[in-house]
Amino acid sequence: MRLLVTGGAGFIGSHLVDRMLADGHEVVAVDDLSSGSRDNLAGALRSDRFTLHELDIRDPALIRLTAELRPEVVFHLAAQISVRRSVADPVHDARINVEGTAATLVAACEGSARKVVFASSVATYGRPTTIPVPGDAPTDPRSPYAASKLSAETYLAMFRALHGIEYTTLVLSNVYGPRQSPDGEAGVVSIFTDALLAGTPTVLYGDGTQTRDYVYVDDVVDGLVRAGGSEGNGRRFNLGTGIQTTDRRLHSLIADAAGAPDKPGFAQPREGDLPAMAVDPVPANEGLGWEPRVDLSTGVKLTAEWARSRPR
Ligand SMILES: NC(=O)c1ccc[n+]([C@@H]2O[C@H](COP(=O)([O-])OP(=O)(O)OC[C@H]3O[C@@H](n4cnc5c(N)ncnc54)[C@H](O)[C@@H]3O)[C@@H](O)[C@H]2O)c1
Repeated sequence: MRLLVTGGAGFIGSHLVDRMLADGHEVVAVDDLSSGSRDNLAGALRSDRFTLHELDIRDPALIRLTAELRPEVVFHLAAQISVRRSVADPVHDARINVEGTAATLVAACEGSARKVVFASSVATYGRPTTIPVPGDAPTDPRSPYAASKLSAETYLAMFRALHGIEYTTLVLSNVYGPRQSPDGEAGVVSIFTDALLAGTPTVLYGDGTQTRDYVYVDDVVDGLVRAGGSEGNGRRFNLGTGIQTTDRRLHSLIADAAGAPDKPGFAQPREGDLPAMAVDPVPANEGLGWEPRVDLSTGVKLTAEWARSRPR
């Protein structure tokens, strides 16, 4: 199968590329390298079934590319991913995440793609009242990033109605693993890992009881692959473990993996930070046969091993 991955040089996208190549597919990645890097694709670039196009998804060249390539599935991961940056510059965020999604959908249609798989975010739930957040919970965006992701979802549904192109949206919780930059939504794992390996101080905001739902990148890739099949058309699924992990527990696990003392500093909670988050993975299990397999203790060890071996 021929597949297109937007944001293919990023953290999640590059793992998806590797998995698709390992599965024997032909993979084309489009990435402007604004936050991703060629280093993430070092293995993939050695394959003759892989091509990287250094391109902004809003560039009309994307339409020419898909018209020629005719990819069967488009995995749309390219995005402005920082909530804080979206608050500081909502127009930039909308340009990449809304205009960029519209451009990707036009290109997918032009290339007669069967399906688009989209990476949305738990940020679209705002401040949920039920945790783990059920799959059919109401959305309530509280940041430009959340609003742009939700707008992108609306575009997917609208393009399906207008042009018949299928889609599945995956609502990702806090993804972590090798190759993650410290700026992402689950950047805390890579921030703590880097600091604890280097022996520099770590800080927890608040009293350490804030919770998040950490899901390992290989599990997310498995969800994306499943969503690229024939199941889950026109639906959105949470991809998370349903398990809440406190900041304090996360720190202990990473300190253990890094062989470092478990002694974080504490600072005032940051304004707007959610006290708790986890999402219900059961609908993704029923709809896509997906389940998270890598527990957090194993995942942070794999992440620390990668960080140790990474050239600095
Ligand atoms: N990491 C998480 O915890 C998480 C959680 C929820 C949702 N997501 C979503 O998953 C997707 C992948 O996230 P990630 O963590 O791998 O982030 P990432 O920043 O590593 O990947 C995004 C990629 O998109 C590329 N990109 C950005 N703007 C582009 C443009 N205009 N044209 C072409 N390429 C462009 C970047 O260079 C980067 O390689 C994003 O859509 C993100 O919103 C991630």
